[in-house]
Amino acid sequence: MGINLGDEFPNFKAETSQGDIQFHDWIGDSWTILFSHPADYTPVCTTELGAVIKLVPEFQKRNVKLIALSCDSVEDHLGWSKDIQSYQKCGGDFPYPIIADKERKLAVQLGMLDPVEKDKAGLPLTCRAYFIIGPDRKLKLSALYPATTGRNFDEILRVIDSLQLTATKKVATPANWKQGGECMVVPSVTPEEAAKLFPKHRVQDVPSGKSYLRFTPQP
Ligand code: BEZ
Repeated sequence: MGINLGDEFPNFKAETSQGDIQFHDWIGDSWTILFSHPADYTPVCTTELGAVIKLVPEFQKRNVKLIALSCDSVEDHLGWSKDIQSYQKCGGDFPYPIIADKERKLAVQLGMLDPVEKDKAGLPLTCRAYFIIGPDRKLKLSALYPATTGRNFDEILRVIDSLQLTATKKVATPANWKQGGECMVVPSVTPEEAAKLFPKHRVQDVPSGKSYLRFTPQP
């Protein structure tokens, strides 16, 4: 099982720490990041969900909604949320919902189970997956990390910036690009179109003589 880039994301029903949801309705007009973790009350997961709390304003600025997922119960999510907030030294309401996928239906459907990590009953746990879904409900990006490697959420913000930019402009973002950095004109743009769309672009000479390295200031 699994889902490919460009596929419509499943419109599942789920129980969450903030009530039941129908996923497509919950998305509304936003971009969405659905991210899974192996288990509640575990150390790396606590640092991850805490790091996300700190970045909520950055995700909000980008019109991105966040939703976490593990195979634990709503009761566990609610209890553990207090630990995460205490660790992160922040109060108030927990700022995003956590899906309770106790029967592992979504974990199987979305290809998120990690065969290496098992719970006390020997059942596989979810890996550290994340899915970025556009307002059109299509999958734009996904990644799978093992339980032993916590994610870099600044990188997830960076890829959101790239996805949102390249959704509307005929550019791609090069290695290690950051918001405001130089972009590449995409190969499908003809030289005439490039001159009109990106008057400040430059073509870098290469030994092949081919004009494919076209850099432009970020549009
Ligand atoms: C953790 O979150 O620390 C963790 C969870 C499962 C396996 C290894 C680490």
